[in-house]
Amino acid sequence: MSESATPYPYSPGLEGVPAGVSQISEIDSDRSSLQYRGYDVHDLAEHGSFEETAFLLLHGHLPNQHELTDFNNRLGTEREVPDAVYTALQALPPTTHPMDSIRTAFSVLAAFDPDYTEPATNHEANLRKAERIVAKAGTMVANGHRIRQGLNPIKPNPEHTTSENFLHLMTGTAPDPKTAHLLDASLTLYAEHGFNASTFANRVTVSTLSDLYSGIVTGIGTLRGPLHGGANEEAMRMLLEIGEPSNAQAWIDDALETKKKIMGFGHREYKKGDSRAMYLTKIAKALGIEKGNTKFGEIADILEDTMRERKNIFPNVDFPASYAYYLLDIPIDLYTPIFVVARVSGYCAHAIEQLSNNRLIRPKAIFDGPANLTYVPLADRA
Ligand code: SDX
Repeated sequence: MSESATPYPYSPGLEGVPAGVSQISEIDSDRSSLQYRGYDVHDLAEHGSFEETAFLLLHGHLPNQHELTDFNNRLGTEREVPDAVYTALQALPPTTHPMDSIRTAFSVLAAFDPDYTEPATNHEANLRKAERIVAKAGTMVANGHRIRQGLNPIKPNPEHTTSENFLHLMTGTAPDPKTAHLLDASLTLYAEHGFNASTFANRVTVSTLSDLYSGIVTGIGTLRGPLHGGANEEAMRMLLEIGEPSNAQAWIDDALETKKKIMGFGHREYKKGDSRAMYLTKIAKALGIEKGNTKFGEIADILEDTMRERKNIFPNVDFPASYAYYLLDIPIDLYTPIFVVARVSGYCAHAIEQLSNNRLIRPKAIFDGPANLTYVPLADRA
């Protein structure tokens, strides 16, 4: 590796490397806290709604009642999607993972956006696109789930919130208020998280002056991986594999012995625990008691105690989210798509921020390969 090639500090995976300036959220690893535009995420989850959070992320301030009513009305009228989206989803094999379905759905949706031809730098058009994206994500995930079962898509009810709409379309029945409230809190917690891999990928995409939808598709493709958003689905499969609390200690001992990555644990930023996990764990455990199924919470305690004692590693948001969603009877492979339903609000906020003061994101590579070789004609090569 040539010395001159490293004028700046290099860190694998860009760990600890500031890659931009943002006003959208702040993660405090030492205090295990997360704030969206200055508001503690626990306050937003406890006292607000996902729609208030989405407005805050997109428009930069908490809405007053008039602004929130107007925002909810705009979202409500934008829940429906063009039939072409459903036609595309019907063309996919029913075995397609819902993350690939929602990624495909957004690619199709983009072409039908009324502001499709607007330049990427049109701020007002981007805000209109962002609201349509937030409004429609849940519709496409839930109706995509219906389509893969051979069912017809359901028309959204414009009076429903994002959570109510998702549950109504996913189940085909009126949304249970308690379930909708818990889902709503999880959407607030999942909405935004700084320069995580998928949000940063989104910013790289729009930094070329590509459009908001291209950034969303990039984000979804990046979120899909099990080291990132895909962890909530994998964590639930792990809990089901363990099965009973009596199996948990032997399972985790063997997993650590064989150097397995425990899904739903660890975080690049939080080194003393993920504040969102603490909040969601309370919800998940209370659900277990209410549903008469506390075994996942009991397994969780054993895994968390062992990971903390042996490796000083803590659960992240995906771990409690997994068994909370399971107890809410949500299909396991919809867990990461639900993450998308929430995170598109953060993706759009970051894309709009990037475009408002843009500089192409293009880091250097440290070259570590061969150089100045002599070309050998094909006939002379061994
Ligand atoms: C999300 O960035 C974000 O903000 C993401 C997110 C968001 O809201 O957008 O918070 C959402 O993606 C949460 C993370 C979900 N992913 C997982 O749960 C997958 C399992 N977690 C790990 O793969 C890992 O913890 C990462 C990827 C999340 C973070 O890894 P880092 O920072 O790259 O740390 P590392 O892999 O270099 O690990 C450091 C040490 C290693 O031990 P040694 O090899 O040095 O002995 O900690 C160990 C790792 O083996 N370790 C784990 C572990 N996580 C780290 N060991 C077992 N199980 C784990 N989960």
